[in-house]
Amino acid sequence: MPLLRRTPRYTEQDREGLRIAGRFNAQLMDFIRPHVQPEISTGKIDRLVHEYTLDHGHTPACLGYKGYPKSTCTSVNEVVCHGIPADDVILKEGDIVNVDLTTIVDGWYGDQSETFFIGEVSETARKLTQATLDALYVGIHAIKPYSRVIDIGNAIYQFATSQNWEVVREYQGHGIGRQFHQQPSVPHFPHPSSYNDVVEPGTCFTIEPMLNEGTAKTRLDPHDGWTVRTLDGKLSAQFEHTIFMNEDGPEILTLTQDGPQEGHQF
Ligand code: MF3
Ligand code: CO
Ligand code: CO
Repeated sequence: MPLLRRTPRYTEQDREGLRIAGRFNAQLMDFIRPHVQPEISTGKIDRLVHEYTLDHGHTPACLGYKGYPKSTCTSVNEVVCHGIPADDVILKEGDIVNVDLTTIVDGWYGDQSETFFIGEVSETARKLTQATLDALYVGIHAIKPYSRVIDIGNAIYQFATSQNWEVVREYQGHGIGRQFHQQPSVPHFPHPSSYNDVVEPGTCFTIEPMLNEGTAKTRLDPHDGWTVRTLDGKLSAQFEHTIFMNEDGPEILTLTQDGPQEGHQF
């Protein structure tokens, strides 16, 4: 009999705090969306997000997290995740960019990301982005109360690889709540260790699949220590939501008003 790991569980009162944080984070995504256009720099996106967050009395979670220098992650084309916003990174027609936002609201964390198209993108970029959004929802629908975390990875991995996309392994979803990253780890492939983690009611976590056009392998930028790129330089896309497991099933805490909803066709 394998040992089941108990992951942190939150009360209904805690859930209100998490809901408020998720809702603000989603509002922030809706705020930034119209700015993500050709000719804007990722540094400018970061400043807009930072100011909007402070203007609403909240805290950007990334800034200073393990020494991270900015308030957002902006990951363009072959950047898998943790791209550092910069004034000299100008978005241009044909790019895809993931904007990953995390806010602390009254001590509670909300975390989500979207991949945006800059103007017209290639057919490959469009299909990869479509598969990644769909994979996120495949993961969400794979679980109910007392499911195992491996069910998420199983479902996403099956879905993605059946369409010949590769799934990033080194970076995973995570428990979230009063901390940015906590138990359980949420791999987007069937990692044996996630068999022992049970999604009890009250568990709060992210699902954030990164799908690659080519190899799943990644390389960390040795100079900045943050930027993660595909090893082969091919495209990578990502979507992320924060999820709360209720007694009657999963609730997405970071749903936007204007962003792509489940089933959206790019
Ligand atoms: N938001 C990312 C996640 O989904 C984490 C970014 S950590 C940072 O978990 F330090 F790079 F900001
Ligand atoms: Co996350
Ligand atoms: Co994130």
